[in-house]
Amino acid sequence: MERLTGRPLHPFLRRGIFFSHRDLHEILALYESGTKFYLYTGRGPSSDALHLGHMIPFLFTQYLQEAFQVPCVIQLTDDEKFLFSKDNNKKLEDYQRLGWENAKDILAVGFDVERTFIFRNTDYIHSMYPNILKIQKAVTYNQAKAIFGFDDSDNIGKHGFPAVQAAPSFSSSFPQLFGSQSNLPCLIPCAIDQDPYFRMTRDVAPKLGYRKPALIHSKFFPALQGENTKMSASVANTAIYVSDTAKQLKTKVNKYAFSGGGATIEEHQKHGGNCDIDISYKYLSFFLQDDQELERIRQDYSSGKMLTGEIKAKLIQLPIK
Ligand code: TYM
Repeated sequence: MERLTGRPLHPFLRRGIFFSHRDLHEILALYESGTKFYLYTGRGPSSDALHLGHMIPFLFTQYLQEAFQVPCVIQLTDDEKFLFSKDNNKKLEDYQRLGWENAKDILAVGFDVERTFIFRNTDYIHSMYPNILKIQKAVTYNQAKAIFGFDDSDNIGKHGFPAVQAAPSFSSSFPQLFGSQSNLPCLIPCAIDQDPYFRMTRDVAPKLGYRKPALIHSKFFPALQGENTKMSASVANTAIYVSDTAKQLKTKVNKYAFSGGGATIEEHQKHGGNCDIDISYKYLSFFLQDDQELERIRQDYSSGKMLTGEIKAKLIQLPIK
């Protein structure tokens, strides 16, 4: 990627945060031979603002768009969140509104306005519908149940939804963007939880005469409470939202960010901190761009020279780019 784009690799790649892929090498080989691809990613609007975990695929997709100078489509699945929500008091219109709100957070990442198409499913379904139908006909109920764990008490909308998330993987779903180019290669950056949708998509693609989309997956950005958790929008004090004020951010980090430091200053100075479990260090390893500075922090914290309050202060003042 460095050779093709002439740009340094993104820290998410250098540090293995994007850690797995399907057919990325094919996308790169096609690009090298002059065939451009398009990027596809998305968001299920379930909260007023995105949290830092959600930002990972968007930050990375924006980097890919800038580095490769390619188009990007962003799907807002207001339909998905309406169908899958257990909260029967929330109306479809509430999810449509959240989609609109979330679009602002996503575009603020810096997508190229000339090359980016962001859409809510309830507005744009019409153009994708022919592909949705073809996908639905090619996947059996048994397959959908095996992939997504649906059971007989789930509403019927859920069973049909995976085809809606699959459809943007095929460029013919966007005639207004791609015109007669109906088989453009597609690369999908997302966290690993979205892979089942695209395993299904890759299964049906050849049956419809389409190319399989390529994928690149990220690990989860952990919750404040600790490693091996996933930052999730449903528990407010585990997540940092892009709408949090500087003061809220500071309080959350100081109060909740799990520390790998010693129980007392003396103990910390004697034994050092444990970067493997320290959330502040973990977050810095996602967002601090400078490799040397990150390594210095790792050494100073592990040796006990840097205290927990100091590593938290470092994180609190860090801008996210
Ligand atoms: P959603 O809204 O749950 O998540 C949006 C994107 O953020 C990723 N993600 C995370 N990444 C790192 N750390 C976390 N803690 C974390 N939590 C969520 C998700 O993998 C996703 O990439 N059904 C999808 C919306 C969608 C989509 C797509 C996503 C529609 N089409 C195409 C990716 C690609 C959803 O509800 O995402």
